[in-house]
Amino acid sequence: MSRFKKFEEVEEKESLFRDENIFGVDHVPANLSEIKCRDQEIDSVVKQTVKLIKKRVRMELYISGTTGIGKTYVVKGVLEEAKREYKNLKSAWVNCKKLYPLTPYQFYSQIYEQLGRTRISGLSANEMRKKFLSLIEEVPFVLVIDEVDILTSENPRENQAGLLYDLIQDQVSLILISNVFDWVGDTGDMRLASRMKSNRLDFEDYSRDEMFRVLNFVIGKGLKNGVITNDILREISYLTVERLMCDVRKGKNLIYASVQEAMKEDAKTVTSAHMEKARENVRGITLTQILGNFTEMERLALAGYVSLRRSPHEREQPATTSKMHKFFLQNCRRHNVKPVDETQMKNYLSRLEGSKIIYHEVKSYETRGRTNVHFSDYNVKDLDIALLKNGVISGSGVTDLGVKLGGKETAEDILKMRYGEQ
Ligand SMILES: Nc1ncnc2c1ncn2[C@@H]1O[C@H](COP(=O)(O)OP(=O)(O)O)[C@@H](O)[C@H]1O
Ligand SMILES: [Mg+2]
Repeated sequence: MSRFKKFEEVEEKESLFRDENIFGVDHVPANLSEIKCRDQEIDSVVKQTVKLIKKRVRMELYISGTTGIGKTYVVKGVLEEAKREYKNLKSAWVNCKKLYPLTPYQFYSQIYEQLGRTRISGLSANEMRKKFLSLIEEVPFVLVIDEVDILTSENPRENQAGLLYDLIQDQVSLILISNVFDWVGDTGDMRLASRMKSNRLDFEDYSRDEMFRVLNFVIGKGLKNGVITNDILREISYLTVERLMCDVRKGKNLIYASVQEAMKEDAKTVTSAHMEKARENVRGITLTQILGNFTEMERLALAGYVSLRRSPHEREQPATTSKMHKFFLQNCRRHNVKPVDETQMKNYLSRLEGSKIIYHEVKSYETRGRTNVHFSDYNVKDLDIALLKNGVISGSGVTDLGVKLGGKETAEDILKMRYGEQ
């Protein structure tokens, strides 16, 4: 036996993992049986795909639902399966979060590349669009635009909704996936809004039982037998639904971190104590990272809410967006950013809501009135720290101790003042 093989075996024997890949963020199902509790949603997508292939009926599907509940996973799974079934089907996938810069030219170029062509430079966006269209004239083709709400929230002035409308006019089959419930309504584009009403597929959050079944599949594939007992898994499922905003990705992270805690102690099974320890670690890291993915305006909008909640007079009052806006203006001034009015500020709340950091009371289904805002799971302090770590100061320079640093303080100074060494 080679020296390497010997250690490889030791590694394997000691690890509690069977397959770590399933814990990755971009994990895709190998086939449809790897998707749990989403039969209806799978069927909706399958049905439209069959219509497209057999009858050439154009597909247009608006999928929405909060973060980490299987939207991307289901659509990827169905399309991959469909391509195995129907060899002529083609598809392309644009994730707006990963597309930089977010311009029509980039957009069409990326699709063009995914269709197996090499990128052509020196063309206009419109020329690129024509090139792309010429490739899909004769074949059934679906374009998935994932995290599509970013198209409109990042770049509202360029009216990227126009890009979507062009795709519709060009008869391209579309699956649009969004974390925001009503992002089209937010853009004020009525042409899109009316289409979205009739072709939407809303993913509901998982119940505790469903979460158990989903996570049970994850550990069955990812861990060796018996590492997590049913009791512990039930606890993790409960936590994921009630405290981690029903985000399967967070549930998977928690499992992964819990197993690592167990391995640190050479334990063969995960205990509640391992899980609690893991939970503390997972929470702190993810929040700072999540905020890092937001635009400055989105962070400032959140800081407006944090400031409001930090204020002693306001702490117990309902947080309305108009009060929030006052603090938002202060924060913009402090950060030398040109402020926007309350309506526009509300647009920046959409993505925070999609990430389940905040939620608002739903006054009516149609308008989704954002009158009262609440935190989902995080407390003021955690959010304030995460904002400060991202360089955003919420509220004035007056610290909790009543000390003022003269307006020259940095986020780091404030972090130290408010919370000591971090
Ligand atoms: N129904 C499910 N069955 C199995 N795994 C799931 C299911 N739903 C979510 N997951 C897991 O959670 C991860 C996150 O889901 P994803 O589809 O990326 O969320 P989003 O809704 O934000 O697009 C997936 O990579 C997958 O591992
Ligand atoms: Mg997704």
